Amino acid sequence: MKEVPVIVSVLLSLSVVQGANILGIWFHGGRSHHILGEILFKELARRGHNVTMASPFPLKEAFPNYTDIYLSGILEDQESRSKIFMEMKEGGFSKTLEVMPALIKSQTEITLANKEMKRLINSGTKFDVIIMDWFLNLAILYFGKLWRAPIIPVASFGTVDIGTVFTGNPEEPSYIPRFGVDLPQNMSFQQRVFNAFLFLVSKVIIGNYIAYHQNLIKKHFNDTMTEEEMSDTIALILSNAHYSFESPRPYVPNIIPIGGFHIPTSENMPKKFQDFLDSADNGAIFFSLGSNVKSTTLPAKTLQDILKVFSNLPYKIIFKWEDEDIKDRPKNVLISKWCPQNAILAHNNVKLFISHGGLLSTIEAIYHAVPVLGIPIFGDQKINIPSAVKKGYAVQLNLEELNEKTFSNAINELIDNPRYKDKVEKLSFLLKDQPLPPMDTAVFWVEHVIRHKGGFHLKNYGIRLPWYQYYMVDVIFFLTSIIFSILAFTYIIIRKMITIFRNKSDINGQNGKVKIN
Ligand SMILES: *[C@@H]1O[C@H](CO)[C@@H](O)[C@H](O)[C@H]1NC(C)=O
Ligand SMILES: *[C@@H]1O[C@H](CO)[C@@H](O)[C@H](O)[C@H]1NC(C)=O
Repeated sequence: MKEVPVIVSVLLSLSVVQGANILGIWFHGGRSHHILGEILFKELARRGHNVTMASPFPLKEAFPNYTDIYLSGILEDQESRSKIFMEMKEGGFSKTLEVMPALIKSQTEITLANKEMKRLINSGTKFDVIIMDWFLNLAILYFGKLWRAPIIPVASFGTVDIGTVFTGNPEEPSYIPRFGVDLPQNMSFQQRVFNAFLFLVSKVIIGNYIAYHQNLIKKHFNDTMTEEEMSDTIALILSNAHYSFESPRPYVPNIIPIGGFHIPTSENMPKKFQDFLDSADNGAIFFSLGSNVKSTTLPAKTLQDILKVFSNLPYKIIFKWEDEDIKDRPKNVLISKWCPQNAILAHNNVKLFISHGGLLSTIEAIYHAVPVLGIPIFGDQKINIPSAVKKGYAVQLNLEELNEKTFSNAINELIDNPRYKDKVEKLSFLLKDQPLPPMDTAVFWVEHVIRHKGGFHLKNYGIRLPWYQYYMVDVIFFLTSIIFSILAFTYIIIRKMITIFRNKSDINGQNGKVKIN
């Protein structure tokens, strides 16, 4: 009984973190990135923190303890590049590598130069922690140096290379496929060579990337930030990852997987959707190509085929579509520019999700246990969908293969064959079967960083080692040399002894002869 007050006081001292000042920097014009930040920040505000969110998406309705800083110019920048998402589809991975960094660099610069951010810096406001979208935007780390605040990057793609540079997370190319390639865990020899090659290339690219962002810091603030300073500023990384949707892999103590944290435990949906789904006695399908690709840019023939197939189905269909109406819209199709995706997927009548396979959509499909017909367009979608197919809850159909026959076959297979639903239900159970709901995990670690004023105690020494020490190349070389020396020495001794022995027996022989003579 004596222990109880101790426990209570420990719990109390843990919960003291109240009303911390938290700054968010969600610089990117992609809505799906911003959603993660907005959901996390609303939760932090709900738990009594004073949050300030710098982003191009100010809240439409005021939220208590949530202040917006509008990053102007970013949405315009994104809009001027809206075609690039279709270009990336046509141009494949190399096109993505070419156009994506340009977009990030430009939006990073707009953020660094933002007048309101400058005003906030000069206002003397102190922040206990800065949480930022982590998307190749290293120069943003400089705000941590300016405010002397630890930074928590949120990796919306899950943990990517750039995160491992700053945390020393193991990323063995022997069994961890690189980000952005469709490789299995049990790679063949050739695949491992390819994966190792990508590993080396990414090290070179990241080196250049760090230098580029150091120059941005120089340009906008006339200051320097070393790689070590960048790493020290990062307290820990919250990663949108979980083994239900990525291959299992190690995480160091300062990478915290929180995949699924953005999914609300319950969500109301507007009556229009509720009534439509409630009345879908045969079941319903949800069709959305996400927020970056506009379904209005679909080729006319493809759209025609899609609508034809829909009109022959016994199901009701919710179609996310950016126009007011579609020509020849079948009766069983409801179109809407905005759709409450989670609430729709959570509805019992929804049997299938036709999706581009963005990571958030993939996680939501798993969480709500809805099989997926994947039409990947660009970037990580081309990895997420094949991975979903391998996990057994999806069928992939590329846009150029999509016609009346393939589309209707895929839909029927996914709905009529129960194995897809079985698989996705098992994964859903895995995603939900965690010691703490992922949002509570995220909040715990944010408050942990506030309580301990950073994350130095979580850092492993690996980041301080040069590559040849990290991979023990020097030690392996040393030990190999010793073993080689011993072998060589033994060989020489044995040869010497054999020679001596031969000579001796020759001499003995001669002696013998002499004796005989
Ligand atoms: C949060 O908002 C509530 C009500 O709006 C207010 O009473 C409280 O002081 C605020 N907390 C902080 C830390 O600003
Ligand atoms: C809350 O944050 C704002 C900056 O957005 C700051 O001006 C204000 O002083 C903070 N409030 C408290 C109670 O610290």
